[in-house]
Amino acid sequence: MLAVTELKPLNMKYIFVLLKNDLALAKEEVLSLINSKSCELIENVLVLCTSKKNERISINEAAKRLAYTNSISLLLFESDYKNFLKCMENFNWNSVYKGSFCVRIKKLFPEFSDFNNKKSNGKNAFKEIFSESNIASYIWKNVKKPKVNPRLARAMVNLTKAGKNELILDPFCGSGGILIEAGLISLKAIGFDINKKMIWKSMVNLRHYKIKNYELEVKDFFSIDRKYKFIVSDLPYGLNAAIMGKVRITKSNKKLLKKYIEKFYFDVIKKLELILIKRAVIIFPSYVNYKKLLKKSKLKLKSEFESYVHGNLTRKILVLEK
Ligand SMILES: C[S@@+](CC[C@H](N)C(=O)[O-])C[C@H]1O[C@@H](n2cnc3c(N)ncnc32)[C@H](O)[C@@H]1O
Repeated sequence: MLAVTELKPLNMKYIFVLLKNDLALAKEEVLSLINSKSCELIENVLVLCTSKKNERISINEAAKRLAYTNSISLLLFESDYKNFLKCMENFNWNSVYKGSFCVRIKKLFPEFSDFNNKKSNGKNAFKEIFSESNIASYIWKNVKKPKVNPRLARAMVNLTKAGKNELILDPFCGSGGILIEAGLISLKAIGFDINKKMIWKSMVNLRHYKIKNYELEVKDFFSIDRKYKFIVSDLPYGLNAAIMGKVRITKSNKKLLKKYIEKFYFDVIKKLELILIKRAVIIFPSYVNYKKLLKKSKLKLKSEFESYVHGNLTRKILVLEK
């Protein structure tokens, strides 16, 4: 069982997915370019251990040159079926996470696992455990406070149509992903977050990018008392949102939870209506019935887009106007 990520120049094991037609030629081509300490061919997948010291050409250069290789990936860990989920849990996904990820299962061999021997539902259990969405959930849980990816943040800022030196507010700024992109294109970035630690993180990140024109404040969104022309934000997700509203809900209390979550997002829309002057670009979790909530407000939905996160988790990007 292999878990792979995008290419990374480390002294480690790599996976070369070879063209199936001419495996011997494809393998020899790889070994002609890369000095390997050891290698193993599993069907059309060549697992190769290389060290930077002995490198003739870098993996990235090889990726450009190789004719009979479809893709090259870094091997993160190897495990059997039994220990796979434990490995998924223990791996430090933050060390490779760069803002987004995608899980793809290339091939499974249920016959080599002991799941088939399990009672009548053994087969389903196997399928469920080794589904892309279940495996993705292990990465998702492990990656703390996923940031909005820089490309999306930049596009969201541009969607406001704000001109140079104009001001962009992110009232749920987290670690400052949106503020950085606004700052990098010479807009003034203002960030609020209810969590002091996040404001600190934003400050560190903005300084890192040498952005000078910004203001940060520990502030509850619902206490904002002035208006802003442009607002761009990635709203808090699900249960956290409810907790922030000082409501503790148990898992068994799902109906109440749904009600509180809906109320939170409705309150956000109503507040937005009060503080927005011109245009807002907001990320909503896709499970929120924002159309129903927007009907009860004066905000106009100008356009909406979908952004894929992982498995069945997508987010909606809404462009709203006063
Ligand atoms: C989804 S995160 C934002 C992520 C951010 N876009 C980034 O790139 O890091 C939502 C943030 O909203 C903050 N938050 C939750 N409730 C809030 C409230 N009532 N007022 C202000 N911030 C709040 C949380 O502390 C969290 O940092």
